[in-house]
Amino acid sequence: MEKTILMYWPTAGNVEKSAKTIAKQMGNIEAKPINEVSLDDLQSYKNYILGCSTVGTSTWDSSENQDPWPNFMKMLDKVGINNKTVALFGLGDQIRWPQHFVDGMAVIHEQIKQRGAKIIGRWPVKGYDHEESEAQEGGFFVGLALDEDQQAELSLERIKLWIKQITSD
Ligand SMILES: Cc1cc2nc3c(=O)[nH]c(=O)nc-3n(C[C@H](O)[C@H](O)[C@H](O)COP(=O)(O)O)c2cc1C
Repeated sequence: MEKTILMYWPTAGNVEKSAKTIAKQMGNIEAKPINEVSLDDLQSYKNYILGCSTVGTSTWDSSENQDPWPNFMKMLDKVGINNKTVALFGLGDQIRWPQHFVDGMAVIHEQIKQRGAKIIGRWPVKGYDHEESEAQEGGFFVGLALDEDQQAELSLERIKLWIKQITSD
């Protein structure tokens, strides 16, 4: 993956921590919260890594939504992303939300898919204890699933393996 930018939301928690680890492991690539991303950033990078958490998706279309993802998607529409390659990672908690593990990643995945980008970096479900996930397709999640609440000790190894995979895709 040449010319890659990592963009994530929210800040100050597990997503940002994971974003920084991934950026560092990839050789200090640029990493920004999505509310700081400019149209110029989106245009000049060929590859995107997008990171999100899962805290309920019902507010996605609400006008009172303070979440910057919908606005970010509007920026993607302006830029046009059907020539971009996108890899996703999502944070969740498989013990407290076993039927909705990393569902947030499915929302972002759908939004990116609709806009025609090439999506890479699916990740095997083996090793997780969840029951259901909207982000699961067959034996894979649509991106890297990280669980800093229940399996923090596995994250670094997962990240390293996933980076190997997406950089050779
Ligand atoms: C109110 C709330 C709802 C959550 N719902 C889910 C959920 O449906 N599925 C899931 O996998 N994790 C869920 N989580 C867990 C978070 O996604 C997880 O703790 C994540 O690491 C938080 O990232 P952050 O620290 O960057 O906000 C929820 C957490 C909170 C606080």
